[in-house]
Amino acid sequence: SDEIFCPSETYMIKNKEEMTMYNYQELGLVNTQEMFAKAYSEGYAVPALNFVTIEQLNGMIDAVIEKKSPVILLVSPNLHRQLGHEMTARLAQVATDRIKEVGLHIPVALHLDHGMTYEQCVMAVEGGFSSVMIDGSKLPFEENIALTKKVVEYAHAHDVTVEAELGILKGKEEEGTEGTDESMYTDPEMAVEFIRRSGCDSLAISIGTCHGLVKMVPNEDGTLPELRYDILKYISDREPGFPIVLHGCSNISQKYVDMINEHGGHIEKTAGIPDEQVRKASGLAVCKINIATDGWICGLANTRRILDEEQGAIDSRVFTLKIRPLMKELYLHKIDIMGSAERA
Ligand code: 13P
Repeated sequence: SDEIFCPSETYMIKNKEEMTMYNYQELGLVNTQEMFAKAYSEGYAVPALNFVTIEQLNGMIDAVIEKKSPVILLVSPNLHRQLGHEMTARLAQVATDRIKEVGLHIPVALHLDHGMTYEQCVMAVEGGFSSVMIDGSKLPFEENIALTKKVVEYAHAHDVTVEAELGILKGKEEEGTEGTDESMYTDPEMAVEFIRRSGCDSLAISIGTCHGLVKMVPNEDGTLPELRYDILKYISDREPGFPIVLHGCSNISQKYVDMINEHGGHIEKTAGIPDEQVRKASGLAVCKINIATDGWICGLANTRRILDEEQGAIDSRVFTLKIRPLMKELYLHKIDIMGSAERA
């Protein structure tokens, strides 16, 4: 399965000579600098939405147009490899073209999610990404700083913004990636030092969110624990204006979990991040909130349901055409929670 989710790294390098290089401005994209400055000063967060299907991408652009919300398209290194440079860049361009066609000016960034190596970040910049993440969170502190600085130097020379990560989030980003069972809250003092020394433009930290289906362990009285807003406050008191990023913020709606289970799937325990907590963080120093799992389970649950209802189906459009508006609905809700409507 590794080959399916993670074809060899050499796949793109082998084709490098024939590869078209893209400049993100020509694709109609922007980096995250102004997006985050506005989000910080006005107290909302920009939705950073992962997509793995065309229905998801179309649904999110439909939502962004209706709400006039800025958006960050999240692409993992695995998806970048699967689609290739050309397809990834062109899909982002189609998104910005659709927005232009309706006469709107909505900032759209194309962001590499969890770049694990310097080379993956370089590849993304050459492929038209306007923002990259270098995830050195599993490295010792000094090595994380050194790797981040190297990526910052390269990316800034191309006017591309860089997100780094400090602290460890439990769970896996996607199949075929290395996960961890342990969560480690970001040490706020180290975060301040990291921001000052690494030169990163934004920092993903761990305040209790987590990748995957089970994010929170309920308290003894059955209530859910609150995110550690105190860590955010410590950092923003010392680095006012500096944008913080939260990963692992899906809500994992029981509606989709039940739908998957009712239609042949098997998911046991789930616990997502409550909407109110995402809303509260959006009003603080958090300027970017990542959502992947919610989009996946919405698409998959409805695909299972529709295929069960349409036993004679032979054409994928039986479900794809119905899924786009459901995706749109999901993303409209995310925009409302993060407060990013009418902020374009
Ligand atoms: P979720 O698994 O909560 O959607 O988080 C996704 C994410 O943070 C990707 O980087």
